[in-house]
Amino acid sequence: KTPSNVITCKAAVAWTANAPLSIEEVQVDPPKAGEVRIKIISAGICGTDNHILEGKNKVPLPAILGHEGAGIVESVGPGVTTLKPGDKVLTLPLPECRECVYCLHPKGNFCKKENILSPTGLMLDGTSRFTCRGKKIYHLYGTSTFTEYTVADEIALAKIDDAAPMDKVCVLGCEVPTGFGAVFNTAQVTPGSTCVVFGLGGIGSAIVMACKASGASRIIGVDINEQKFPRARALGVTDCLNPNKLKKPVQEVVMEMTGIGADFAFEAIGLIETMVAALKSCVMSYGVCVIMGVAPSGSQLSFDPAELLPGRTLKSSVMGGYKTRDGIPKLVTDYLQKKINTDVLITHKLPFEKVNEGFKLLREENCIRCVLTL
Ligand code: APR
Ligand code: ZN
Repeated sequence: KTPSNVITCKAAVAWTANAPLSIEEVQVDPPKAGEVRIKIISAGICGTDNHILEGKNKVPLPAILGHEGAGIVESVGPGVTTLKPGDKVLTLPLPECRECVYCLHPKGNFCKKENILSPTGLMLDGTSRFTCRGKKIYHLYGTSTFTEYTVADEIALAKIDDAAPMDKVCVLGCEVPTGFGAVFNTAQVTPGSTCVVFGLGGIGSAIVMACKASGASRIIGVDINEQKFPRARALGVTDCLNPNKLKKPVQEVVMEMTGIGADFAFEAIGLIETMVAALKSCVMSYGVCVIMGVAPSGSQLSFDPAELLPGRTLKSSVMGGYKTRDGIPKLVTDYLQKKINTDVLITHKLPFEKVNEGFKLLREENCIRCVLTL
């Protein structure tokens, strides 16, 4: 039953960094062994896609970007056992093979089959399924969602409930687990605590929601774009700081506001300087700093080790530490049971053809997440 047809469809191709995406006709090959071809229904534009387009994070180009997507299985390759045509899925930039040492460890989620740290832009078998104008086009993190059809490895897809609204749940594929997991799994925020969140975009907003849900009594939000403040307050931020308008470094202001620093600090921007500021904003003796932002390729984090010596903890996680194929369908169930309301994290919706407008919104406006519909 494995299909052999090539699908011709529309996709947004990033030919180079620092240029708009170009809507092109592309050819999508049939899925090979262990792979699945998907019709993408919705796709979120994430800060990481923006970093890639701005050339800060290096991935092989030309590529079809986008890694946060909801779709329907069109066909499956030989050997695929957990998915069938018609199933609803979320694409996973971090797979879960359930066989490697990290997947098998109860605490691990950084699957050895990941394609994040040094992205190959290829499927696990080392080849691409996309062609445009006769040229090979790379995948992104084994996902590539800014296209009507994509191919992903079975281990990089989460099968979700048939009742899931596809234009809403795509954010549960990256933004929500990354932010929620940072709080619930990585930091383990405690009731009554003080939190500081650097960056009030998509990830930062999900972090704020989760801090509030964890019973944090004070949540300080830090962003240079004050248009993000009203939404952040609505989600639970109690104090907003714009570092560009402060007379002192932001960490000193946080220290003054709290007396001893925040119990938990989160960095959701992706800059070295704000990572260090986040670390210095948490309580010296027991503060926990979680960095979720992806720093520019090749950068080095540096600070005086005496910042850690008194007892601070510096942590990070990918996809919030969730084992993706196990954990993400559960978040979708929580959403369907109205235990979490992630709709508030989606502020803009655009037809796929307007993807460049979506990137512009993310960079300049009061946008938390823009979802493209295909
Ligand atoms: N200081 C404070 N805030 C900043 C600064 C700065 N120097 N620079 C940017 N910001 C703010 C932006 O105004 C924006 O609100 O950081 C926020 C980033 O949000 P998004 O662009 O929506 O990105 P998001 O999807 O949340 O991802 C954030 O996490 O997963 C990583 O790679 C991702 O590094 C990115 C980060
Ligand atoms: Zn694995």
